[in-house]
Amino acid sequence: MANGRVVQTADRTMGSRQLAALLPADVLARPGYRALADAVRTLILDGRVALHVRLPAERELAEAVGASRATVTGAYDLLRESGYVRSRRGSGTWTELPDGHRPVGAHALLGAGGHSADGDPGVDLAIAAMGAPEGSLADALARAAPRLPGLARTPGYHPFGLPDLRSVVADRFTRRGLPTRPEQILVTAGAQQAFTLVVSLLCRPGDRVVTENPTYANALDALRHARLRTGSIAVSDAGWDMGIAESTLRQTVPRLAYVIPDFHNPTGALMPPEQRLRLLATTRATGTWLVVDETIADIALDVPAPAPLASLAPRGGADHVITIGSLSKTHWGGLRVGWIRAGAKMITELTAVRVSADMTGSVLDQLVALPLLDGMDRELPARLTQLRIQREALVQSLRRHTPEWSWQVPPGGLSLWVDLGEPVSSALAERAAAAGVHIGRGARFGVDPGTFEHRLRIPYTLPADRLDEGIRRLASAFHDGVPLASAVERPHWVA
Ligand SMILES: Cc1ncc(COP(=O)(O)O)c(C=O)c1O
Repeated sequence: MANGRVVQTADRTMGSRQLAALLPADVLARPGYRALADAVRTLILDGRVALHVRLPAERELAEAVGASRATVTGAYDLLRESGYVRSRRGSGTWTELPDGHRPVGAHALLGAGGHSADGDPGVDLAIAAMGAPEGSLADALARAAPRLPGLARTPGYHPFGLPDLRSVVADRFTRRGLPTRPEQILVTAGAQQAFTLVVSLLCRPGDRVVTENPTYANALDALRHARLRTGSIAVSDAGWDMGIAESTLRQTVPRLAYVIPDFHNPTGALMPPEQRLRLLATTRATGTWLVVDETIADIALDVPAPAPLASLAPRGGADHVITIGSLSKTHWGGLRVGWIRAGAKMITELTAVRVSADMTGSVLDQLVALPLLDGMDRELPARLTQLRIQREALVQSLRRHTPEWSWQVPPGGLSLWVDLGEPVSSALAERAAAAGVHIGRGARFGVDPGTFEHRLRIPYTLPADRLDEGIRRLASAFHDGVPLASAVERPHWVA
């Protein structure tokens, strides 16, 4: 320990060509040492170069970027002085964040938590989920009711899930191109429980796992609670960096990799088929369990809903792919119904873990889920239309109130991953909370604390007028004349 913090060296190495490929064209065209240092710092803060990664040797990077050795030495010196890298003789130079650089306001995603004292209901932009479609739950409940007396005469414990529901979920996988038997399905209380069950079964404290960066905040929390060491696969506006993903997987040989290939949360990106194949091949080669989170896969707004990633694997990925999903985004988060698809033997093992925590899922929720799944293909298009309209409304509100922010419109999913242009999202989220807007600041989605400070995740799951009100309040918090505290100590070489 030094200064109360653990001194950590590098977990893995980044090649000179890999780093060069991430640098912007203008830096490569005229690689001055300040520009080079600035670009590497941005990559670190953006999560595109993870923390504790050994950077290439100076001579190799100089060669790869067509700069002099002195330029790279100067850039590394600047990064070292400002705390973004550390070096030790014999261990090389690895990425870090400056001392004291810590995120603030860790509880933003826990939600608005009710009205303020003056009765203002506020605007909750922290949750990327919608209310249930009008009338749908009452209809489903009415259709489920006749089944209840028969089930009520039994003890009601179904640790694997109601047999009918397992069949319906399996059939849906089969129709989507991934042949599945009911024995391969465990019904869970949502996708989050599905993920924690998989992690409890497969991982032990200290194991290495890999996630995308950024990724779903509650999945990261689950990994932290399980005391796992998390490596990362960068997802930027350009999508997945599969070259770095492959080398990270090969170097760290993680026990488990967790991905959201279908309208990734928070970016909304959709993984191209060729990258899916590479991910499958690499995780198979490294003996890594690939956990595919399909919770958002049906929220396909501009493209057809993708086939399950596991359908591209030999034998449906039986030996190393686990797929999780739920009804939370297609129907309602208050209905706690999700699932795990895996090999039948693993499903039995997962069920034993489940029983140790909660015995069985709610039979009532599962009965309601049956008619909802039955009507899904009929009902979902209206929800997707509503989301497209709200997505456009959010874009218009952003253009009107905060034209200096930038964003890409994703082909599906529930939110925009907005670039604020400066690393102030934690401070903005705190100021916005005082104005009644609750929002997911970028750092909540980062593997490494303190990254993604220039991003906000803004869902388009509220009606247009509420979205506009939320963005109007966010904009006035952003523009209110008092500078927002940057979560990042400005490097001293920047004027
Ligand atoms: C990617 C992803 N996985 C899992 C979940 C959790 O879903 P559930 O409500 O089914 O537990 C969410 C909810 O936001 C999500 O976006």
